Amino acid sequence: MDFYIDLKNIGTEELKHIDLDRVNVSCNPPDFEPQRQYYFMAKCRQIVKLESERLGRPLYACSVTFGCQMNARDSEKLSGILKKVGFLETGSEDADFVIYNTCTVRDNANQRVFGRLGVLNGYKKKNPGMKVALCGCMMQEDLVIQKLRKSYPFVDLIFGTHNLYKFAELLYRCYAEKGMIVDIWEDTDKIVEDLPVERKYPFKSGVNIMFGCNNFCSYCIVPYVRGRERSRSPEEILREVKNLAADGVKEVMLLGQNVNSYGKQQGEESMTFPELLKEVEKVEGIERIRFMTSHPKDLSDELIQVMKESKKICRHLHLPLQSGSTAILEKMNRRYTKESYLALAEKIRREIPDISLTTDIIVGFPGETAQDAEDTIDVIKRVQFDNAFTFVYSKRTGTPAAAMEQVPDTLVRENFDKILACVQETARDRVKRFEGKTLPVLVEELNEQDSSLVTGRLSNNTVVHFPGDASLIGQIVDVTLEKCEGFYYIGSKA
Ligand code: SAH
Ligand code: SF4
Ligand code: F3S
Repeated sequence: MDFYIDLKNIGTEELKHIDLDRVNVSCNPPDFEPQRQYYFMAKCRQIVKLESERLGRPLYACSVTFGCQMNARDSEKLSGILKKVGFLETGSEDADFVIYNTCTVRDNANQRVFGRLGVLNGYKKKNPGMKVALCGCMMQEDLVIQKLRKSYPFVDLIFGTHNLYKFAELLYRCYAEKGMIVDIWEDTDKIVEDLPVERKYPFKSGVNIMFGCNNFCSYCIVPYVRGRERSRSPEEILREVKNLAADGVKEVMLLGQNVNSYGKQQGEESMTFPELLKEVEKVEGIERIRFMTSHPKDLSDELIQVMKESKKICRHLHLPLQSGSTAILEKMNRRYTKESYLALAEKIRREIPDISLTTDIIVGFPGETAQDAEDTIDVIKRVQFDNAFTFVYSKRTGTPAAAMEQVPDTLVRENFDKILACVQETARDRVKRFEGKTLPVLVEELNEQDSSLVTGRLSNNTVVHFPGDASLIGQIVDVTLEKCEGFYYIGSKA
C-alpha cells in the first residue's frame, strides 16, 4: 500500500505536482480543502481512463464562458481540473463533457444559454455518454433552476458561484450517480486556494483579489448571485502573482467587482488596494498591471498617486459612469453625482495626462428621459472616453429597479442611438492622439482575419494590429502607430 499517496499528509505546495494516479482513493475522502478536491480528481481520473479505454479514444471536454473577466478566470479553474483528470480540451460543443459558465447580468446573456442548450440536447442524443453541466451566475437564480428542472431534464450537473471550488467532487458525482445533480449555495465566506488552473494565455492572467459585491446598485443582479464582498489575503494574492511571474506571465489583471474597496471588510489591519498594487509592482518579471473594476465612489487620491508613480500599472482606468444624470444616478444607488464624476475624471487627467478612461453606460434605466440622456452625452463629451460599453437597461428579477416604472422601448432606442453616436465620435478623436508615436505593445495573438498580422495592446488597452508572426506572441515590442482606425491602430514594428 505504500505505493499510494495519502492526501491527508500532503501540503498545499506539493499538491500541485502530485501524481494523481498514485493517490489512495480506497480510503474516505479528506474532510479539508483543497486536499479533498484532489482526492476527487484522482477518482475522476480513473473514470475518464476507463471510459476512454471502453471507447478506444480520448475523452473531450468543452467549456464555454459567458460574461465578465471574473467568469473567464473561473473557467480557467474549471479547465485546470478537466485537464488534470484526463480530458482533452476542445472548442467543439459536440464533446463528451460540456460546461457552460453562465452570466445573468442582462437578460440576453441568459437567453443565449437557453438557446444553446437545445443544440446540446441534439449532440447528447447521438452520444449518450455525454454530460452537460451548467454553473455560474445564472444558476444562483431560483427561477432558472425551476425552469431547468422542468424543461431541460437532460442537464446532468448544476452548481453555482459559491461552490465552484468543489467542481472535482461534483464532476465525480456526475459520473457516479444518476439523474440531475443540483448543488447551489446561498452564499459563502469560504475561499479555497491552490486548485489547478489552466490559463488561456501563457503570458497574461487574471488574479482574483476579491469576490462578491456589497454595493447593490438598484439595477444590478451581481450582489445577489455573487454574494457579499470577500477579499483574498494579500499573502495569497502575492504568492499567486509570484508563481505566475515564475511561469512566464508578464501581465496580471487584478479582478474584483469593486477593487477600490479591497480589504475594507477585514478592517484597519488589512492592506488597501493602492498598498496591494505597490506590492504587486515589486514582483520581478511582472511588467504590466491592470485591474477591473473601479467604482467611482471609492476611488481614492492614494490610488491616483500610486498609479502616477508606477512604472508597471497600465495607463488605463475603467470607470463605469452608468448615467450622467444625477437624478438617475441617485435612483441607481451609485452614490456619486454628475458633478463629482466630472471632478474625479478631471483630477485623474490632471495627475496622469496620458491615461485612457473607458466606461460603461446603461440606457433606459427606469425614469430616464431625453433630458437625462443629454446629461450622459454631456459627460461623454467632457470626459472624452477612449471607449464606452453602452448597454440597454435589462430588468433583473429581484432588483429594486425591476419594480420601478419602465421606459417605453421607443424612447430607449432614441436615447441609445444618440448616446452611441456620441461615444463613437468622441472615441475616434480621442484614440487618435498617439498617431505617429512609437509605443510598446504586448502581442497577444495572430490577427483573426489576416494571419500576416499580429494583434496586441498598448498600455492604455487600445488594440494594435501590425505585421508579424507567432514568434512575437507574449512579447512586448515597440510599434509605430501609423493609422488610427476608430477604436484601434494599424502599425509597424519600430
Ligand atoms: N462592478 C462593475 C460592473 C459589473 S457588471 C461596476 O460596478 O462597474 C458590468 C456592467 O454591466 C455594468 O457596469 C453595467 O453597465 C452593466 N449592467 C449591470 N446590470 C445591468 C442591467 N440590469 N442592465 C443593463 N446593463 C447592466
Ligand atoms: Fe453591480 Fe454595482 Fe456591484 Fe458593479 S458595483 S457589480 S454594478 S452592484
Ligand atoms: Fe455576468 Fe456574473 Fe460577471 S452576472 S458580468 S458573469 S459576475
